[in-house]
This record gives sequence, C-alpha cells and structure tokens, in this order.
Amino acid sequence: MSNYIFGKKQPPHKRWAVAWYNPFVLYRSIKEMLSTNDQIRNLDRREMYSPEFTLIQVAEDTRDGDFWWDFVSDTGDGGNATFTVAREMQKAFLTPKVCSDLKLKDPLPERFPTGELLVLGGDLAYPGASVEEYQYRLTEMWVAASSNPDMQSHRDTLKPSLVIPQNHDWFDNISTFTRYFIDTRPKQNELAFMSAETEPDITPLGTRKLQKQSYFAARLPNRWVILGFDFALVGDIDRQQFAAFFALFNSGKITPEDNLILLYPEPYWTRHLGDDARDGYPKRYQRLEALMLKLGCRIRMRLAGDIHHYARETAKADHQFQYDDMLITSGGGGAFLHPTHTKNVNTVKAMSLVDEDQAMTADLRERVRIGIATSDENTVRRYQDKTFYPRKRDSRALLLENVVSFFRSTAHIGKQLRACNTRAEHAKVFWGAVVQGNVMFSVLLGSLLMAAIMTESLWPGLIIVLMFLGICKESSNATAVIGGLAGGLLVIFVEYCLTNAPLLEGSEWWRIGISKTLVFLFCFILAGLFTGVLFSLFSLVGYLPNNAFSPLGYEGFKSFIRFRIDAEGNLHGYVWGTDDVPRYWIENPDAHQPVWIEKDKRKAEWQIKDIFILRK
Ligand SMILES: [Fe+2]
Repeated sequence: MSNYIFGKKQPPHKRWAVAWYNPFVLYRSIKEMLSTNDQIRNLDRREMYSPEFTLIQVAEDTRDGDFWWDFVSDTGDGGNATFTVAREMQKAFLTPKVCSDLKLKDPLPERFPTGELLVLGGDLAYPGASVEEYQYRLTEMWVAASSNPDMQSHRDTLKPSLVIPQNHDWFDNISTFTRYFIDTRPKQNELAFMSAETEPDITPLGTRKLQKQSYFAARLPNRWVILGFDFALVGDIDRQQFAAFFALFNSGKITPEDNLILLYPEPYWTRHLGDDARDGYPKRYQRLEALMLKLGCRIRMRLAGDIHHYARETAKADHQFQYDDMLITSGGGGAFLHPTHTKNVNTVKAMSLVDEDQAMTADLRERVRIGIATSDENTVRRYQDKTFYPRKRDSRALLLENVVSFFRSTAHIGKQLRACNTRAEHAKVFWGAVVQGNVMFSVLLGSLLMAAIMTESLWPGLIIVLMFLGICKESSNATAVIGGLAGGLLVIFVEYCLTNAPLLEGSEWWRIGISKTLVFLFCFILAGLFTGVLFSLFSLVGYLPNNAFSPLGYEGFKSFIRFRIDAEGNLHGYVWGTDDVPRYWIENPDAHQPVWIEKDKRKAEWQIKDIFILRK
C-alpha cells in the first residue's frame, strides 16, 4: 500500500495518476498479475459464483417514453480526470453543446438527464485492484463529485448498476470487485453479520446491486438486452459462464425480437481476426456469438472499455444482416489516454463466420470472428465507418510531449509546489513526484548503462536488450526485434562514448566521484531521451498503442456515453467528452457537495463528440 492520505484533505490533484514506467509500479503489477494467473489456473473464481443465473429486469418491458442509461469504463487513475468525469456524469441533467466538427442529422433533446442505470465496463481502479486503490482513486472521487451524496437516506430510490471487471480489477483475484459490486447475499437472515464496509445490496458508488455474478444479462425497455462478460485474465469466458448464457438463449428468455448489446472486458476486435483461437477449438465467446446468430438474434453492438479512448466502427445492413451493427471502444472514464492514430484502431475490422468441418465435435464447429483481417481471409462483413475521440490529429500531436515523458511527472506538480508554505513541504512534494514518477525508469536504465560500462559483465547490457525486446513485443515479433536491436545499439553507443573517456582517468577520490557522477548523468539523460524518441517513433508509425504512449500519462480527452432508448425502440448514443481537465482544485466555498471546485486556467469543456443511432 502506498502512503495515501484519504478524505477531504486530499483534493483530486494530489491523487496523482499512475506512472506506469515507474519500476515499483511495474514490479507490483507483474507480481499481482502472475499471482492471480496462478490462482485462476488452479481454481477459477468465476466458477464459484452462484450457478443460478437470471435475466435481470432493469425497468419495465415497454416504455412509452425515453429510457436513459450511462456507460463509463476505465475510471480510477489520476484524481483530476476521475473527479471531472464523475462530477459530469452525476449532474441531474446536461444541456447539449455539440462539437463543431459534428454534423447534426436530427434535432437533439433539450436536456440529457443522468441515466436511470449505470453500466461500468471495468478497470475501475489502477494500478491494481485493492481496497485502498478503489477507495482512493474511485470511491472517494465519485462520492466527492456527487451533488447529492446522502445516499444512505434514500436507499429505496437509488439507481441500479451493472458492472463487469477488466484485467486490473482481477489483480486481487476479483476480491474487492466482488465485495463492492456483486450481491453475494446467501440468505436474508445472514445479513446481520455483514459489516458496514460490505454493504450487501449497495455499491460504494451509491448504486443498487443487481447481479449475482461478475457477469450479467439484463433486459432494458423496448426490446433491448445487454449482456456483460467476464474474461478474467484469460481472454475468454469460463465454462459456467458459457453455460449460463447458453441457457438463457436456449430457454427462450432472449428471442430474435431482441436487440443485443454485448459488453466485453476487452475490444477483442482490435486484435487479429480469430483472436488467436486455434483451428478446431474456438473460444467460448466466439461459440456463444455463433449460437446467437444461429438463433436469429441481432447483435447490434459490441461495446468495451480497456482501451482508453473512444472509437466507433459501423457495418451497414446488407443482404445477410438486415441491420447496422457497431463496434465501440469507450475507455475514457479517467485512465491515461490511448492514441487513436495507431494501426490497431485504424485498420478495417471484418467479420468471418467459420464452419470448421474438421472440428472433433459439432459444438466446436461454428464461431464468429471479428478482427483485423489479412487479405486472404474469407470475411462476410466489414466495419468501414469510423469515428474517433480524440481525433487522430490531436492524438498524434501529443507525441511531441511523449519524447520527454521520462523526465516529466504525471503529477503536474507546478501549482502544487507554488502552494507549499515551507521548504519541507516543497521537498516532500518534489521528492514524491520523483520517486513515484516515470523518471525512475530513466534512473534504472541509466544505472544499467553505467553498470554495463563500469563492469566487465555482459548482464547489464543483456538486461537492457531484453527489456526493450519485451516492451516492444506488444505489436509483433518484428517490433520486438527492432526494439531489442535499438536497446543493443544504445549499449554499444554508450560503451563507445565512455569506455576511453578522459573523465575516468586519475585515482583521487574526488576525481573518481565527479567522473562517476558525470557518467551517470550522461547515461540517465541519454536513457530517458532515447526511450522517449524510440517510443514516439514507434507510435508515429502506428505501433505499440499502449506501451509507447502510456509514459505520457495524459489526463485529457475523457469521455463517457449517455444512451437513450426511445419509445419506438431506437437506441441513441451521445458521447460526451472534454479535451482537458483541471489540474488544481480548492474546497467548494458555496456548498458541501461537490467537495471541490477547480481553480485552474485549464477547464473541462464538455461537448457531445459523437452521436449515433441504431434503429430498432
Ligand atoms: Fe484500462
């Protein structure tokens, strides 16, 4: 646990965004991921939930008016972004303001009321799930941002929520997520033994729990059904989950008259077509989608967070599918930005329906595959229309900042330093930003480079090569080789520059001390700059969408989706976004809630960045 300060004395700007290249963060994340992976392999916690799986009734079947609901995902990172999004989403209503490059086809509603249902797409706290991270980065931000946090006195009128976990929620084997978002009450008469922290029916966000599992199926008004899946850390649903959804379709609870929204923990369609499932042995979610199509059900939208931007790709109705359907990635709820100019986003996605006659049993024959297709693959549907937020030019423009990201803090401490009253406070903020920042990666890499020169050992150089190779493997083996070679060239270059440098000559202690300091500074600066330039170049040509862009820890371009199902059964989506978020907050002088207001020239300018409609 970090030395977090909780409560009202800790405004959003002091809750610094996670610096992903900080060696301590990397170590912790890898350790937690390996540990959970090990547990899942031996005993999958998803199979420990109640096997009783029902179609949740969120509201009435038919409504003669609008049903509004909200979706947000990837929330609890830096306080500035998370608080800004949480405050906007919890306003009683929003008045429309439309982005200048958006062309309106239909008149907009006069007001956009907050949703009657809150759907959360996971990755709710970073860097990994724990009670402290949820509390510090999500719950306190959400409660403090509310205009009416007095939730306990209005228990009966709380809006419901439906939630799925993503990989970061799984870092504690979904322990905190289960406690906070799943109604695990075994029997009513055991409620008396629950503590206040484990509210049996209310989430820490003040919403009502509806689900008994980490996945859900729910009926919305006017023939819309939303299914939320849990992939844990294995990229697929488990056997019990498959059986649970299968039974809903087989029993006729969901029919071809329903329009389906599939909420996934990851936008699997940004990967290669088929998602690396082997021939003859499809993934379970691919088989489930095949079953849905076989029964004549209409999958209108595949929705996911995980990637921290907004991207919508649409396939138009054709002879085989008499309806439009969409792939939507929407992970802009608070976490650091992912770029929209990279290949994983821009390459056209396609659908392929494969009947594998060599599969051993009939149930393994059919699968639905959506993803990035190579030209020789047999596809039936293409997702051509694309909309992004941020726009590609804005995404690419951030690469200049990315070059120096290994020397910058994700904490934005300028104003925090000026607000310090004593030197001790000043030093504490500055030192904290250094120790918790990405600059520690430059320190680590610089130290390894120095060790490569000062010792006879090959190990430091080899470690550097392997580090770059591992980081650059995100896109392909080819990018991994290029990254590894670049790391090797860095080591050779430093060896060439410093092996016979005159600075290292002389035996006096002070001369040696100065020489070593200068050598370290050279290695440190070169390491940080080299990595920043290398990553920015990779990103510029469209590769390493996460690893090359995450050092920036960019807090802007946040978004969420407000949905409306109208009386005719059409689904409207309104994507609200802000390019920037405030970076300094003071106590609210006018009201108890929200707890803080911004005092910064950077403002949140919320606008509708995309509008879409899926007709019934
Ligand atoms: Fe995420």
